[in-house]
Amino acid sequence: GNDTLTLENRMLCVDGYPFKELAEKFGTPLYVISEEQIKINYRKYIEAFKRYEKETKKNFILAYAYKANSNLAVTKLLAKLGSGADVVSGGELYIAKLSGVPSDRIVFNGNCKTEKEIIMGIEAGIRAFNVDSISELLLIEKLSKDYGEANVAFRINPDVDPKTHPKIATGLKKSKFGMNKEVAKKAIKMALKMKNINFVGLHCHIGSQITDLSPFIEATKKMMEFILELKREGIEVEDLNLGGGLGIPYYKDKKIPTIEDYANALIDTILSYDIHPNLILEPGRSIVATAGYLLGKVIHRKDMWVMIDAGMNDLIRPAIYDAYHHIENAVLKEEKEVVNVAGGLCESSDVFGREREICKPEVGDVLVIFDAGAYGISMANNYNARPKPRMIMTSKRGVFIIREREEYSDLISKDIIPPHLL
Ligand code: LLP
Repeated sequence: GNDTLTLENRMLCVDGYPFKELAEKFGTPLYVISEEQIKINYRKYIEAFKRYEKETKKNFILAYAYKANSNLAVTKLLAKLGSGADVVSGGELYIAKLSGVPSDRIVFNGNCKTEKEIIMGIEAGIRAFNVDSISELLLIEKLSKDYGEANVAFRINPDVDPKTHPKIATGLKKSKFGMNKEVAKKAIKMALKMKNINFVGLHCHIGSQITDLSPFIEATKKMMEFILELKREGIEVEDLNLGGGLGIPYYKDKKIPTIEDYANALIDTILSYDIHPNLILEPGRSIVATAGYLLGKVIHRKDMWVMIDAGMNDLIRPAIYDAYHHIENAVLKEEKEVVNVAGGLCESSDVFGREREICKPEVGDVLVIFDAGAYGISMANNYNARPKPRMIMTSKRGVFIIREREEYSDLISKDIIPPHLL
């Protein structure tokens, strides 16, 4: 998946820039994201789903999941490529608007949308609120009286086992997301009677980092069956949103389906029915993960341990999901060593990888943590009072700082000392 990665004079490079030099010039810890790789990943989806548009005469909309990486340079790039946005908060909606995403390509997910967020969505005239409960529908109806019409789709819980990490499975019966078909049907009938509410479609999302096509096919079938069932009752579904995209290989799963395989599986499943809605997908990880890298400098060595200046506050995935991220020395060497790579936080889970064979990491070397473009900076935090890292974007046009490194003063900028403690 890392098409823009090359090796030149034993130095790992992205878009032709050696990581070692980027680290020296911009400091560490450092997030690097490749504009060219994002473009490649985005275009794979667009190319693969052209067939859907051609054969059904309906639209395919890619609504990039902002939660994967909502840095403004990344969202602007995707907006310029024509991407829509899947937002899950007022903050993400604000960023989508700022990035110039057209309203009819914005969908709003989440199981706990607040009044303020719903008002923002109504005022922006978004394509759909993916409504998670009847309680939410009633709140949208109430607000639509004062703020204007709202488009709603309902999030169905299809009860499909996605065979992924339990913390990122979302479409099982026991999950907090969505509603079952019976409740959804009731909600749809309620919505159809509401004055300022337009019922536009159905949504489901079964989980993330899914690398097997069968759960996607199963969910698509269940959704199509439901669409037919509604049709028999005279209810038309314009949009079918199938949620997040395909997982990525993370270097250890070498043989996973391609975006084209994934697209064909979904398209063939839908084409096997004689009714075809507009198709919306909300991929996040598969658009940005392989475009991003986290660079950390080796600060100390102790036995098997390699301590780097990046930590779990910058990239929390290994700590909370035991996620595998490939690690290599930015400069390849003859001599290899089996090591544990750790950050410097006071938490024993702050370990990026155990027993990894990498080119001998010495103090001062730069290590490259792969596939960090999704759920990296967007899940970063300031634990242990660590400023969030700088981010740069590499592209054919050059290298650009896209997020400044936080300062110590940023860490306390929202804190207030009560007068008696001054
Ligand atoms: N749509 C909905 C409703 C979602 O909940 C998600 C992800 C997506 C789309 C995007 O899915 P993707 O294409 O990225 O698989 N922090 C975790 C991932 C959590 C994903 C949550 N929902 C991680 O780092 O693995």
